[in-house]
Amino acid sequence: MGVPTQHVADSYDLYIDGAWVSASDGGHFATVDPATEESITEVAEATAEDVDRAVAAAREAFPAWRDTDPDERGRIVHRIGELVRENREELAAIESLDQGKPLSQAKSDVDGAARYFEYYAGAADKLEGTSVPVGADGIDFTLREPYGVSAQITPWNFPGNLFARGVAPALVAGNATVVKPAEQTPLSSLRLAELCEEAGVPDGVVNVVTGFGDPAGAALSSHEGVDTITFTGSVPTGQVIMKQAADNVTPVTLELGGKNPAVVFPDADLDEAARWIDRAIFTNAGQICSAADRVVVHESVHDELVDKLVARAESYELGRGSDDPDMGPVVSAEQFEKVTGYVEVGREEGATLAAGGGTPDGEGYFVEPTIFTDVDNDMRIAQEEIFGPVLSVISFETEAEALEVANDVDYGLVAGIFTSDVTRAHQFARGLEAGNVYVNQWFGDTNQTPFGGYKQSGIGREKGLEALDSYLQTKNVAINLAEGSSDSLPGA
Ligand code: NAI
Ligand code: MG
Repeated sequence: MGVPTQHVADSYDLYIDGAWVSASDGGHFATVDPATEESITEVAEATAEDVDRAVAAAREAFPAWRDTDPDERGRIVHRIGELVRENREELAAIESLDQGKPLSQAKSDVDGAARYFEYYAGAADKLEGTSVPVGADGIDFTLREPYGVSAQITPWNFPGNLFARGVAPALVAGNATVVKPAEQTPLSSLRLAELCEEAGVPDGVVNVVTGFGDPAGAALSSHEGVDTITFTGSVPTGQVIMKQAADNVTPVTLELGGKNPAVVFPDADLDEAARWIDRAIFTNAGQICSAADRVVVHESVHDELVDKLVARAESYELGRGSDDPDMGPVVSAEQFEKVTGYVEVGREEGATLAAGGGTPDGEGYFVEPTIFTDVDNDMRIAQEEIFGPVLSVISFETEAEALEVANDVDYGLVAGIFTSDVTRAHQFARGLEAGNVYVNQWFGDTNQTPFGGYKQSGIGREKGLEALDSYLQTKNVAINLAEGSSDSLPGA
């Protein structure tokens, strides 16, 4: 065991039906500290049989949870949020250790997680249906009912925060859940499951099966006992999950990343634009679905903006998350290979390396903040999600060209506009093919705003009240008040 820490046990079991249990075959895997490449601890490796057990526990627990008074469900979910706040330092330390991110960023993730529980808790007793006017001879209304078992397959970039983003609305709507955290970062989800129990969530309503995409994730997404699937991760895995779900006609909510443009016009406040874009690509070492991967900047301000971005990038200090550096390592050896591979691709494609590009000597999966200029939007570094601290700068001449470049990718998650012209901001926002548009800022979505992608960036919306639609299905009830009306049979 490389790094002893006060918050981490020697080994972890699966959390199924309110109990800690070993994997059916006793298997374990190591989770690694990406700053040292050393094992932190051992975590149970769920088999398909374990996933079966977790789904069965959730099915069993579902009816009583669904029938719990909504105000009581809301109080319990709110209590989870309070416990997340009370355990903020510990949760952030675990996340920073397991994932690599700077401690202050981990704390902000934990605050966001608490907010999801608080925000959705308030909605628990407001999930109203509608009444449909059908005339004097009937009454017609809708009920919004939970699906049953919600599978949550989460990624490694914001593990605890995304646990909360899915579990909070699922619970509030009356579903039971089975969470399969990413194998790189299982620890915060296990601690959150403990806090759910402490808050009064009944046994079986929240289950956590740590393990790999195959077999654990695949067993979950193809399970007949799962009623709805929420997935955040890569496009190829999202496609596999959607195909598996099709066999059982299980609905999916998919959040699949992006290649997000930040469009900078000559009338923008360039200092502000540089500050936002810097945060938007280098926070969490660029491992954010809504990162600003591409800067699309007017040629007249190109050099000035690039100078500002380069100065910022070169000031970064890299280090271990727990020391709260400017930037931590990327999450894993695979991600390190992927990101450094793209730096090579950028060089080969003929882009100019304006900052970074290197990897510091020594242990840990560290990649310098990297900026490529002279990027053509057809290059792979402009089209493919790198998911690391690598920015591509593309210049434009006309507004029409800027819009064309911004939209010319398979993704459509978020996009940003920097301008002081309000009319232009509105018009350009309409033209962008993205689920979220930020104007003169980045990461403009909060817990309260719907978030999700156009095009290959996904299906459905997370966050905001709209996310509840993924966890509720509509039942329409039609009551006849007219006597003898069966004589006249339906006109369809
Ligand atoms: P991934 O999409 O394969 O993994 C995400 C989750 O899906 C993990 O929990 C994983 O165990 C699970 N999974 C994998 N295969 C599965 C299957 N067949 N059935 C069910 N679940 C399965 O992502 P990966 O390989 O860790 O990262 C690769 C790339 O994906 C990254 O470089 C990045 O570009 C993108 N990504 C995007 C994220 C986002 O927020 N949109 C988050 C993480 C990765
Ligand atoms: Mg780890």
